[in-house]
Amino acid sequence: MSTVDSVQPDVAAVTAAKPASVTSSRAGYLPIPLNHIPLDTLNQISVYLKARLGTEPTEDGGEKYSLYSSGVVPFTEADRTRLRQNRVRFIYVRTADQPKLQRQLEACLATMAADKKTPSEEAAALVYETSFELMNEVLSDPALSLSSDSVRNVCQAVSAFVINHRGAFSHLFSAARHDFYTATHLVNVATWMVPIAYEMGYRDDAELTRIGQAGLLHDVGKVRIAPEIISKVGKLTDDEFAEVRQHAQFGYDIIKSAGWTDELVCAVAQQHHERQDGSGYPGKLTGDQIHVVSRICAVADSFDAMTALRPYKDRALTVPEAMAILQSEAPEKYDPTVVSALVRLVDPAAASEKEGGAEVERRAQPRFTFQVPARVFLLTTSPLGPQEHSGFVAVTRDLSRIGLGLNTPRPLDQGQAIRVYLKVRAPGREYLDGVVARCRNLDDGSFEVGIQFVAESAELTNARAGGNDG
Ligand SMILES: [Fe+2]
Repeated sequence: MSTVDSVQPDVAAVTAAKPASVTSSRAGYLPIPLNHIPLDTLNQISVYLKARLGTEPTEDGGEKYSLYSSGVVPFTEADRTRLRQNRVRFIYVRTADQPKLQRQLEACLATMAADKKTPSEEAAALVYETSFELMNEVLSDPALSLSSDSVRNVCQAVSAFVINHRGAFSHLFSAARHDFYTATHLVNVATWMVPIAYEMGYRDDAELTRIGQAGLLHDVGKVRIAPEIISKVGKLTDDEFAEVRQHAQFGYDIIKSAGWTDELVCAVAQQHHERQDGSGYPGKLTGDQIHVVSRICAVADSFDAMTALRPYKDRALTVPEAMAILQSEAPEKYDPTVVSALVRLVDPAAASEKEGGAEVERRAQPRFTFQVPARVFLLTTSPLGPQEHSGFVAVTRDLSRIGLGLNTPRPLDQGQAIRVYLKVRAPGREYLDGVVARCRNLDDGSFEVGIQFVAESAELTNARAGGNDG
């Protein structure tokens, strides 16, 4: 069985380099989408317009900008309307004003996110990008940045967005980057933990805000790990691996020393690599010993680790591939309640059919009719590896790249690990390992069983061979 811990979040995701922000501009001006920027954000900030096409560029080849309002006179809704009528889509502010703009944006972000009239995709993008800019600051100076209200402010906005916008998860997922920078990872995890928690039944905005804060800060301890280890593409030595694992405790220490008193936020930094069966670190905690929000973080963390691009991967796993792995590793590694919530968010239609993530994949993958006898064994885990039990003969129905349909003479439990040999008489090495995703009684003495493969994908193999997993 593959293990998500082989791509464990998220050491290779860290780099000292800051990615180019979408708001960066070599000309020294930041573009601001005009339509839904909260006007309080522009308080006492000069607003510029880009010169129209055909205007001579500046001497250094840059574009020209003209002052629209000086900041002394407020930029008003009437200004916005007038510019819109002139088909202006972006206004600009000087990069020197970015810190002020960022603080003012954070302060009014929650109000904007709570407004159901704000288009969801625009609200999601603004919440995501504001959080991303903030986390770049936090990672460059955690002690300074963590003492401000900024983290709470952006998490209030995430919470407000999730509470007030249907399909918040998919909008946030669409807004997300999928690169390997730490700021990206922290924002992805935080902005997915909140909708997962909401899906699990959390409704209190203050509590959802705390959950978002825990997500944003869960990996902050990585700032204390040597950059050459963090950015190493090749396989880590045992000593390097041991150092990387310290980031959980370092994170706890950093958050505590920054004056945070919320034990939840500290606990998640410390516990997000714990696993249900005690195979995680640093405390080898099991089940309920792990805070439920740490369990939510573990799932979001691994989901991002699998769906992000990495230096050692040709491509990221697709969402169905990642979901299949998470489902196959619950309940041993992951809390199945959390995984189920993520399944419902990833494909609400599939969830409504009560077939979990299997239906997502069944629809997404071409399937071929493939009817041959097969020998099936139930698998149990042991220190020696998977052990085969209770063999019986079944008939294959269809095959796709990620799954196999079977007709079996007996029902199989969802989640049961099985091995299928396609040669009945002389089982050899040609087998497929999978997990039962669904089982339906055909009322003719047979059962229709859907199997999701859990054989290692090339990505996981590469990750295992060369990844800097922590
Ligand atoms: Fe981590």
